[in-house]
Amino acid sequence: MTLDPHDWGAVHATARRMVYDMLHWQETVRERAPWQPVPQDVKDRLDEPVPHAGLPLDEVYDAFVRDILPYPTGNVHPRFWGWVMGTGSPTGMLAEMLAAGMNAHLAGYDQSASLIEKKVLSWLTELMGFPETASGVLVSGGTAANLNGLLAARVAKAGWNIREEGLHAGPPLVVYGSSETHSWARKACETMGMGRKAFNAIAVDTEYRLDLAACRSAILTDIASGLRPIAIIGNAGTVNTAAVDDLNGIRTLADEFGLWFHVDGAFGSMAAWSASRDLVAGQELADSIAFDLHKWGYMPYEVGVVLTRDSEAQLAAFQPVAGTAAYLQSSQKGISADTTYFADRGLQLSRGFRALKVWMSMKEQGADRIGHAIQDNIDQAHYLGRRVEATAALELLAPVSMNIVCFRYAPEGVPEARLNLLNQAILTELQVRGIAVPSQTVLANRFAIRVCISNHRTELDDLDALVDAVLEIGAELAAGQDLP
Ligand SMILES: Cc1ncc(COP(=O)(O)O)c(C=O)c1O
Repeated sequence: MTLDPHDWGAVHATARRMVYDMLHWQETVRERAPWQPVPQDVKDRLDEPVPHAGLPLDEVYDAFVRDILPYPTGNVHPRFWGWVMGTGSPTGMLAEMLAAGMNAHLAGYDQSASLIEKKVLSWLTELMGFPETASGVLVSGGTAANLNGLLAARVAKAGWNIREEGLHAGPPLVVYGSSETHSWARKACETMGMGRKAFNAIAVDTEYRLDLAACRSAILTDIASGLRPIAIIGNAGTVNTAAVDDLNGIRTLADEFGLWFHVDGAFGSMAAWSASRDLVAGQELADSIAFDLHKWGYMPYEVGVVLTRDSEAQLAAFQPVAGTAAYLQSSQKGISADTTYFADRGLQLSRGFRALKVWMSMKEQGADRIGHAIQDNIDQAHYLGRRVEATAALELLAPVSMNIVCFRYAPEGVPEARLNLLNQAILTELQVRGIAVPSQTVLANRFAIRVCISNHRTELDDLDALVDAVLEIGAELAAGQDLP
């Protein structure tokens, strides 16, 4: 019983429609709203029982066009600036199709796909200023990449054979990072069995950067209490405001105590590809760095990267120690010949061909053009910041350091106590009316409309439209009776 089509001609015809439609959909993305809710009748239609009997592919595709395609998150749209989502690209989309067609298995093996992953990792190593001897692996995203870095840190710095003996064979381990560090850090500490408390959140300065002196005294206090510090996380672009910690300073502090220095550069480290590379100076000194090409590399989901300065340290964390399982043994010749074995660099054994979209995007777009798009986004964020500052009814809530602008509508006459609800309502209206999709954060108890520009389709006019809409909706809502 094969699952191949019995009518290949019909599949060819549907496939041509699919490719044409998706490219057209991307080409015309600006003509649609960034986001719209999924209507109830569509939700009902999608809530189907298990399809025991199959349908012709073109009927399945019609259902996709009718019920799925019109209701995405919207991050492909030029006016989507929520969270830190990337735009993707037509090239990335086509590469995904080709990779799925090949359906390569990337644990390792003597195959072209492994050579491509190895090659893109060497390009990325060079672009991030890491030594060529560094080791890396492509993973699902920032959370996985950061976890990979901390797992290597834990094995390198625990001081006992933690893989063999487990956590209970030594004192509690501690990891430091600023209070602005993304929630992955606590999740990673939980996942590693160290408990959320193992993440020691250190205060930040007025620009939301790690307070190095506070970190130093926390390390001393923890050592005196019998805990074992293992790593400091430096942020190259925090999720709230894109603040960059003093990465050189963290390297020095980590060295003083013999700690691992991990950089979370999920999006921000990509600034190294742009003319603003100095913003993230020092990240190249890290023991490990995590970043996402699906964010500011504009590649389709999912693809994150972790690079580890000392390749042995990465292997030490993941390579089987008690002898490789018989069914995974490598050989001198043949498909299992001793090549790069990516499965020894991370948690996954079965791995897909993520590297193809990286390779195709970098070859077709060129690293410099991607870097220009990143620089455009940085310039756009500063432009929006200046527009906010020049507009009396708007207030900038954090300095613009990279590609994030946090602001609120705060006209004279509206009491402080109303501003949080008012701005929350403005944000909702921006999304629901299909104007733009910023997201939110809270800074010093003030609700902020948060615009994170990791979008190669955004133009300055889009940001002007946002400012106009915030002023208009703000005035409308402030005058209304609906808010307390
Ligand atoms: C600074 C930072 N670190 C880590 C992450 C987590 O990355 P991912 O969502 O790819 O797991 C994000 C996500 O936005 C982030 O902004």
